[in-house]
Amino acid sequence: MKIAIDGPSASGKSTIAKLLSQKLGIPYLETGLLYRMFGYIAFKEKIKPEEALELFEQDFKVIYDVGKTEVYWKGKKLSEELKKEEVGKYASLLGEIPAFRKKMIEFFRRLVGDTQLVAEGRDVGTHIFPEAPLKFFITASPEERAKRRYLELRLKGFETSYEEVLNAIQERDLRDANRPVYPFKPAKDAHIIDTTNRTVEEVLEFILNIIKGREIGY
Ligand code: DC
Repeated sequence: MKIAIDGPSASGKSTIAKLLSQKLGIPYLETGLLYRMFGYIAFKEKIKPEEALELFEQDFKVIYDVGKTEVYWKGKKLSEELKKEEVGKYASLLGEIPAFRKKMIEFFRRLVGDTQLVAEGRDVGTHIFPEAPLKFFITASPEERAKRRYLELRLKGFETSYEEVLNAIQERDLRDANRPVYPFKPAKDAHIIDTTNRTVEEVLEFILNIIKGREIGY
């Protein structure tokens, strides 16, 4: 069974999706990491938006397994460098290019095939795996998300302010939601979960109960 977990940036979707993959013992695919990797490569190699499809010719690799997704470029694993807001912005800009997004959707579908997994992103339930029987849309207020992302960035030693993070999050929300093609929105059949005043454990339990309910058929 495929489980789709979508949501805006810093909503807690990655934490939840990763834990869920570990609990269920099935692989975890973080689709945003691929967007970030390509955003990073485009920035480094000065690839223009109109040349975005050429990014697929780069020497890259994706590994996904229980509790982890890893991306490699020219044999080197990319991780911390992909966390910066600036890289997220590039990733979001790439996501606005319809032909690029279409290619990404095809890439993910081919990569995964029939594998059971927890896949996380923005359009997993709407476009990548619309057939997934279980879809969750994880969200939280922009202020709460900015607080979480700010603390995460500070812990990692990045210099930034809460206001800067909040602005970046709001700007990215707007851009993601207003793309003329593939606008970011929950799938019609997604369970919407607001995590603003809920702990990770509460959200996980809520999701596991829904999965259990489905397995025993009610
Ligand atoms: O989930 P994230 O913040 O790491 O994603 C970074 C950006 O990548 C996000 O602003 C939009 C884009 N993205 C996308 O368009 N579709 C996805 N499935 C995942 C990410």
